[in-house]
Amino acid sequence: MTLQIKNIEEHQAASQRAIENPEGFWEEQANTFHWRKKWNKTLQWEFDTPDVKWFVGGKMNITENCLDRHLEIKGNQVALLWEPNEAGAPAKSYTYRELHAEVCKCANALKSMGITKGDRVIFYMPMVPELTIAVLACARIGAVHSVVFAGFSAQALADRTNDAQAKMIICSDYNKRGAKNIPVKQVVDDAIAMGCDSVEHVLVHKNTGGEVNTNAVDTWWHDIVPQQSADCEAEEMDSEDMLFILYTSGSTGKPKGVVHTCGGYMVYTCYSFRNVFQYKDGDIYWCTADIGWITGHSYIVYGPLLAGATTMMFEGVPTYPDAGRFWHICEKHRVNQFYTAPTAIRALMAKGDEWVEKYDLSSLKVLGTVGEPINAEAWHWYDQKVGKGNAPIVDTWWQTETGGIMISNIPGITEAIPCYATLPLPGIQPCLMDKDGNEIEGNDVEGLLCVKFPWPSMIRTTYGDHERCKNVYFSAFANKYFTGDGARRDENGMYRIIGRVDDVINVSGHRIGTAEVENAINQHSNIVESAVVGYPHDIKGQGIYAYVIANYPVADEDAFRLEVRETVTREIGPIAKPDQIQIVSGLPKTRSGKIMRRILRKIASGDASGLGDVSTLLNPEIVEEVKKGALV
Ligand code: PRX
Repeated sequence: MTLQIKNIEEHQAASQRAIENPEGFWEEQANTFHWRKKWNKTLQWEFDTPDVKWFVGGKMNITENCLDRHLEIKGNQVALLWEPNEAGAPAKSYTYRELHAEVCKCANALKSMGITKGDRVIFYMPMVPELTIAVLACARIGAVHSVVFAGFSAQALADRTNDAQAKMIICSDYNKRGAKNIPVKQVVDDAIAMGCDSVEHVLVHKNTGGEVNTNAVDTWWHDIVPQQSADCEAEEMDSEDMLFILYTSGSTGKPKGVVHTCGGYMVYTCYSFRNVFQYKDGDIYWCTADIGWITGHSYIVYGPLLAGATTMMFEGVPTYPDAGRFWHICEKHRVNQFYTAPTAIRALMAKGDEWVEKYDLSSLKVLGTVGEPINAEAWHWYDQKVGKGNAPIVDTWWQTETGGIMISNIPGITEAIPCYATLPLPGIQPCLMDKDGNEIEGNDVEGLLCVKFPWPSMIRTTYGDHERCKNVYFSAFANKYFTGDGARRDENGMYRIIGRVDDVINVSGHRIGTAEVENAINQHSNIVESAVVGYPHDIKGQGIYAYVIANYPVADEDAFRLEVRETVTREIGPIAKPDQIQIVSGLPKTRSGKIMRRILRKIASGDASGLGDVSTLLNPEIVEEVKKGALV
């Protein structure tokens, strides 16, 4: 197994070793896996292009490392534990042996449908075990999975399917989410009706048994998977073969497909999982994320299974049937490590302490947070009410593009500081840059967060558009990966993430590009132009504030706002619906026609003071109007 740091001396020694000899350090980690053929070069890199390859020439299959290699010793240990949406319904579990068999059956079914190495498969599913099984089945046969969060709209699903030129979509009939029963197969049908010509098959898992339409491309999971052989030889993959594509939002309108490859991602997710969660044999680990996001990929599926852990997935939502659900599950399964998002913590905190006080949470050893900055109040509540002061919080900073956790304290070993991600994991070399491209040295400083040396699970490309990858991440600063975040390094060298410095907003831990929302809003027939900014929101972290210019006078403003929200729901999905929609007659612009977002952000934040000199704007008079009509 990869290194698991046990004390501060080991942390310091590993950090030192990884800086002096990064190749040697990662080679040590990579050596702990099963490779069919060893690599001939540990690292080849050039950030300008970018061209980054780890474990060059190595041959392996990640599922042999997630499953097969554990069979002898851990075959009868639970690999995957599943808690259903309904609190009274029985949980399900799969031992490593059982999960291996299910993955092989599904892999054989995919093969029988003509899916082969390199084909792309889109997922649009609820959090059921079959999602994990089918994701691993793709990896087993070398197909590239691309999981789309099942809250996205048919249009968003069609866009991603077409961008990936996917041969297959795997979905369920319906998704259960709390009291809702969401017809996801219908969304897939709608996406296909929009034109997804590459799709040859839709594999449908019967989840609720509700009524669905059947089309020529459809095959039921139960008609093809269970009867397959439980043996499926894993495809031999090159270390740098694509493992998956995950679409994420950026500052331009179109989501980009972040590409991760097999070898480096395997090494880093296992390494980071073992260290950040200090997982010990026999522990029950639970990450509440959805597999539609990177957190679910790296820390529900791959990291824990590579480490031979028991990983739990939960189908439902934190507030169903009541606000005690998370804590009930922690008590029921004696959860040891619990990993969630600040937005969930804030939402549950707002429901009152009685929900958390009802349950025995003494099994918890480590609490994790991810996805957005956590505010001090939520941090202390999590620490005191959930952890009872006995379970250190790990504030883990990372991104879809980084593949794994980059900056985090190590529980019980390095200091946990409220609102600070603190220190990079050994092997990670962050730095802060100023706007002129100079590295900011020393402590007690603030700047743009970059990484100056490759790490194994870093983004390799954006699918179908390598130039975009270069422009977004590797062009802002020579020889650095630019994260898009601002950060502070305090007097003790501890990192505190401030937030995005680009036009990306973080709503309930979901990344949303303002341009993407504007494009969606502009689809409304009575909208000429729009500008979207983030504003502080008590529960969501950031809310979405849209300024819109209507073409014709709006008679019923509430009905109009409803239509705008429906347009966004149709184009992207409900997660991108604006919280506030202000109708304006114009937007503040520079003389070159650029929208002054700084002004709009300030007004949306409820603080219109200190807007600075607006007289140089093309239309300074508009600022007063926008200020007067502000909704917060
Ligand atoms: O702004 C940072 C924020 O989430 C962004 C990455 O979003 P995504 O790719 O969707 O991945 C989320 C899960 C890894 C980052 O650029 N972010 C993530 N973790 C933290 C955070 N901000 C502050 N503190 C964190 N711990």
